[in-house]
Amino acid sequence: MKEEKKLRRLYEAHISKAVKVNFPHFVNVAEGARVRTVDGREFIDLTGGIGVQNLGHGHGGVLDAMADQMRRYLHLCFTVQMYEAPILLAEKLAAIMPRGLTKSAFFNSGAEALENAAKFSRNFTGRTAVVSFENSFHGRTFFTMALTGKVRPYKGVFGPSFPDVYQVPYPYPYRSPDGPDGSVRRSLEAIERLFHAQVSPDDVAAIVVEPVQGEGGFIVPPEGFLQGLRELCDAHGIVLVDDEVQSGLGRTGRWNAIDHFGVIPDLVTSGKAIGGGLPLSAVTGTPEIIDHPPVGSIGGTFGGNPLSCAAGLAAIEGIERILPGVRDLEKRLRARLEGWVEAFDAVGEARGLGVMMAIELVTNPRRKDPAPKLAKAVQDECYQRGLLILTAGYYDNVIRFHPPLNMDLEELDTALDTTEKALQTVTMKG
Ligand SMILES: Cc1ncc(COP(=O)(O)O)c(C=O)c1O
Repeated sequence: MKEEKKLRRLYEAHISKAVKVNFPHFVNVAEGARVRTVDGREFIDLTGGIGVQNLGHGHGGVLDAMADQMRRYLHLCFTVQMYEAPILLAEKLAAIMPRGLTKSAFFNSGAEALENAAKFSRNFTGRTAVVSFENSFHGRTFFTMALTGKVRPYKGVFGPSFPDVYQVPYPYPYRSPDGPDGSVRRSLEAIERLFHAQVSPDDVAAIVVEPVQGEGGFIVPPEGFLQGLRELCDAHGIVLVDDEVQSGLGRTGRWNAIDHFGVIPDLVTSGKAIGGGLPLSAVTGTPEIIDHPPVGSIGGTFGGNPLSCAAGLAAIEGIERILPGVRDLEKRLRARLEGWVEAFDAVGEARGLGVMMAIELVTNPRRKDPAPKLAKAVQDECYQRGLLILTAGYYDNVIRFHPPLNMDLEELDTALDTTEKALQTVTMKG
């Protein structure tokens, strides 16, 4: 392992500065919810590589499955010859996805899954337009940049946007002047208005939605929103695409976040945790839609690669074993975060589903003025105290927690103690 100084010099010399890195260290090893740096520091990691490591770092079952697969073969290309891992993974996905979504196609990243969900939707409907939501995040490719509902830092510096993508507000109950129901009503009305003023619903192929907004700040839509989208899609023959890249694979205590709402989408995009730490994504849907495009029109060199699929299958099996226990972790996390709303004026709201939970920081709890600087200060203070947490949100004022689903409760308490001390320190300074 090269020493820290040398790595920093090489990093400065050869890595693009356009790629943001949250923390200034170099990792040497990672295990469970801990990472150790090249210069010998240890951190509790509540980022999980942005919601990927649902079983923590270095999970034995995942590593064993990878080792076994590595010894047999690595790359063959699933569009050249068939092999086991993606088939078994697709079978597993059929079992854990909403009813009727039984067929999958595999890709390499979340963005690629969203790209392909749009291809499936366009081909199936024979239409081109796509509706997505403000404050959403769906990726950084040209099409997914257009889907994504936040300009900085994701878009606005790469020329014209991909056409025929329309955005409407997502419900934001905490900031809704007329309460949770009002936020749902305004979102659904915005779609109705869009269909009158800008694009005919007969030209809309898909509505793409995160069932809980991830990068947008872990915003949970009130009851009625996803149901309303389902009704609109049914009324107009539009494909409902459920983007579970961040919220899926047990993160919310159920396999998919949309399961909490009793809504069955037409397509689900999975990414992040689905590869057990390796690059992998999937589009899962009804055979009607997934088998509709002509043979050869969907695919890619590495989509469904053996190693990622073997790791992913082992990860899902691992998650299956611990999924009921996520409730305990959720209870602990929720109680603590809600306590901070009472204890700190700066904590405006605690929210989330399962262990996809966050706090929103404000400078004034009544006016709810966003406090992005405070969120950054809490993140920095946590870092000084040995804890990695990420910020998020439209205003960058949300602190989100991505603990492994199998995190030890005492270790979680330690991490939350640290966050609380950081909150005390920075709010006292403020
Ligand atoms: C909901 C959602 N969709 C899509 C993506 C894009 O995934 P990737 O970064 O793997 O392209 C992300 C990434 O954060 C995401 O949270």
